[in-house]
Amino acid sequence: MAEKKKSRHYLSGKEVRAIVRENNKIVRALEKKKRRKAPESEFLATLKDEKNILEVEDLHTYFFTEQGIVKAVNGVSFDIPQGATVGVVGESGCGKSVTSMSIMQLLQGPYGQIYSGSIRFKSYDFKRDEAGKPIPVWDDDEAGNPQYDEIKDKKGNVKHNKDGTPMTERRQKRDAYGTRIFEMEEKVFDIAQMPIKEMYRLRGRQIAMIFQEPMTSLNPVFTIGNQLDEVTLLHFPGATKEDAKRRSIEMLDLVGIAMPERVYKSYPHELSGGMRQRVMISMALAGDPRLIIADEPTTALDVTIQAQILDLLRDLKDRIHGSILLITHDLGIIAEMADYVVVMYAGRIIERGTVSEIFHHPMHPYTIGLQKSKPTMDSDSDTLFNIPGNVPNPIDMPDYCYFRERCGGCIKKCFGDYPEMVQVSPTHFVACHLYDKEKSE
Ligand SMILES: Nc1ncnc2c1ncn2[C@@H]1O[C@H](COP(=O)(O)OP(=O)(O)O)[C@@H](O)[C@H]1O
Ligand code: SF4
Ligand SMILES: [Mg+2]
Repeated sequence: MAEKKKSRHYLSGKEVRAIVRENNKIVRALEKKKRRKAPESEFLATLKDEKNILEVEDLHTYFFTEQGIVKAVNGVSFDIPQGATVGVVGESGCGKSVTSMSIMQLLQGPYGQIYSGSIRFKSYDFKRDEAGKPIPVWDDDEAGNPQYDEIKDKKGNVKHNKDGTPMTERRQKRDAYGTRIFEMEEKVFDIAQMPIKEMYRLRGRQIAMIFQEPMTSLNPVFTIGNQLDEVTLLHFPGATKEDAKRRSIEMLDLVGIAMPERVYKSYPHELSGGMRQRVMISMALAGDPRLIIADEPTTALDVTIQAQILDLLRDLKDRIHGSILLITHDLGIIAEMADYVVVMYAGRIIERGTVSEIFHHPMHPYTIGLQKSKPTMDSDSDTLFNIPGNVPNPIDMPDYCYFRERCGGCIKKCFGDYPEMVQVSPTHFVACHLYDKEKSE
């Protein structure tokens, strides 16, 4: 593994205090904005292209440390079309996870902050009445007459009113898993402008996340069933415990778990790694998301299980007509799964395009280098990235191309400014001076 040498700054106490003072000022303002109460109009947005479900534009996400500002994501723009899988690839530390945590507003605050840019997401949410309540879709008979069902208690006995008549409720339409259906509406939100409290509308329901290590998102002290039910109870108004349990077991079944009832009653530590990953996928699915963010979802698994999980993900994407943002350092997985590829380097995108453009016509010297570096039997993640040289210090990024110290194809211009993103096809973009506009014209 290439040793990553970090250029060290030794800052005096006075310098550190000055940095901290300056950071605190910025962080306080950003935190205040996140915690504000804001009408929806403040975070409604418009998509550039209606075919997209997510548009990230000029996103800057920083960590305000005592050593200075770490620009972990430094001006990233990409789109996720509805129904597509977009792969993000790059060596460890290049900002893949921070990008996904920004989309979920899950950054470690107060020091990790979305500093600027927009994250426009096409939300598909419950339509609400004036009181803010979701509007049910009723299951009336053909003539339009409301139908009524008796209300039962936990034991399945009919509940009664004071006058002795059975309690009833108007029958609501239910989905294939028995969960109540409400009227829906589409709206575009700018997540970067959304108060953190509003994120509950999206997080876990419309956008679900699958992590590399399931134990980080499964709670060891609750059963799988408990945690799965919670998703339904939290996100589907009017869902009863029985509704939730039925849905949970359906979800476990959907992800190929052979004995869903048994797993429902198990604790996370009683399951194998592959099984836990399936459970986490079923949990992501339970919210009926339109976008799944999978951050290195198979890195911790052995090759056979890895293939099964990837198959499962592909299957589910079609089932929910959703999109996947697939983050991995493994080019093989990208080639197999993705429709579009985003290549990141040191917090920026250096090339993006369709999977065929990136694999058959890579243009950036870094992308070309990645493909030349043959995967080895060694499962260490960084062996895929054996391009010699170091990534610049994230606190002190140069104003020229970040790849210059490692690039074999430098030209005179590379000693000037950071290269602009150049469009080379309707879908293919590259940030490298070799392809500057003037040159191709
Ligand atoms: N809590 C944090 N504090 C300071 N820097 C951080 C923090 N989390 C991540 N970073 C920095 O952000 C950069 C991107 O990290 P990350 O997105 O996790 O990379 P990866 O591409 O491997 O997922 C790294 O340089 C890392 O050091
Ligand atoms: S801009 Fe120059 S230094 Fe950077 S990748 Fe392109 S050729 Fe190499
Ligand atoms: Mg990561």
